[in-house]
Amino acid sequence: MRFLDILIGAAAVGSALAAPAGDAQTPTTKTSKRASKFQFVGVNQSGAEFGNKDLPGQLGKHYTWPVHSTIDTLIGKGFNTFRIPFMMERLIPTKLTGTVNATYASGLTDIVNYITGKGAYAIIDPHNFGRYYDKVITDVDGFKAWWTTTAKLYASNSKVIWDTNNEYHDMDNALVRKLNQAAIDGIRAAGATSQYIMVEGNSYSGAWTWTTSSGNSANLKDLTDPQDKIIYEMHQYLDSDGSGTSATCVSSTIGAERIRDATAWLKANNKKGFLGETAGGANAQCISALTGMLSSMAANSDVWTGWAWWGGGPWWGDYIYGMEPPSSTAYKGVLPSLIPYI
Ligand SMILES: *[C@@H]1O[C@H](CO)[C@@H](O)[C@H](O)[C@H]1NC(C)=O
Ligand SMILES: *[C@@H]1O[C@H](CO)[C@@H](O)[C@H](O)[C@H]1NC(C)=O
Repeated sequence: MRFLDILIGAAAVGSALAAPAGDAQTPTTKTSKRASKFQFVGVNQSGAEFGNKDLPGQLGKHYTWPVHSTIDTLIGKGFNTFRIPFMMERLIPTKLTGTVNATYASGLTDIVNYITGKGAYAIIDPHNFGRYYDKVITDVDGFKAWWTTTAKLYASNSKVIWDTNNEYHDMDNALVRKLNQAAIDGIRAAGATSQYIMVEGNSYSGAWTWTTSSGNSANLKDLTDPQDKIIYEMHQYLDSDGSGTSATCVSSTIGAERIRDATAWLKANNKKGFLGETAGGANAQCISALTGMLSSMAANSDVWTGWAWWGGGPWWGDYIYGMEPPSSTAYKGVLPSLIPYI
């Protein structure tokens, strides 16, 4: 999801009024028994990346942290993975080779420990689009240093998953490859040797263009990890331009269609994939498109490790894809249809 949408999300602060807890439309499934075979089923938990033009920004004004009780509720639905977007500049200010800001780091650590303490996975998602202070990151060694410093924070937590960066875009493909490889090398150099690493591609890491216009399939195929724990994280929205800005999906079959080539690529190359962001509006056409896509992924769960909804978090207000209990749009209108894929 892109900057504009994050700003819209931040602007929604104050309109995030929860409906009464007893709302009849609130999903009632309470079991944590999961129906699917996916390794990771998740929800992005927004908040710490909000207000990204205000750096470092103030807690409670420009950004916030995900809410513990939301994690509990979603675990109760069967989710076992939470992607935590945050800003690189807030964690390590001023320069890539700098040191962590202890205040922001403690907020991140609090939510990571809460999630992993419950036995769920926490995906560490620097939500920076391949940029640092709004400039494309070209200092590959600096990026590696940023990652070594960051990975040291949770090097021994086996429930942590690293995500090299959210949605590289409008960058040189060779640079995207070098940054991903530098992140892998930096993470392993930190002594974080057991955890999965999710890499992302150019063109917002879209599944639909993975094998075509983005060039990601050829560009990222030969990334190497001594631990052999690379997962290719792709994103896919189902609106007309694939940007995740509309509640209208192209058709009831668009989900399965948009991931088909990516699935074939994962299989042909013996790779693992994760759909790190997906969403559609709370309407029948989008729900068919979403469940069709997830069915197709479930039928190929040898290569698709799972998926994560965009987006949860306390500040989304009446956002079209809001997945925050008890009353946001997707939580009430889409989640009940997704239970078979959790
Ligand atoms: C560290 O983070 C806190 C909380 O976000 C912030 O108030 C402070 O200004 C930051 N310090 C630096 C040097 O960025
Ligand atoms: C998770 O949150 C970030 C920050 O707003 C957003 O850009 C991203 O698209 C989200 N992912 C999902 C699946 O919502």
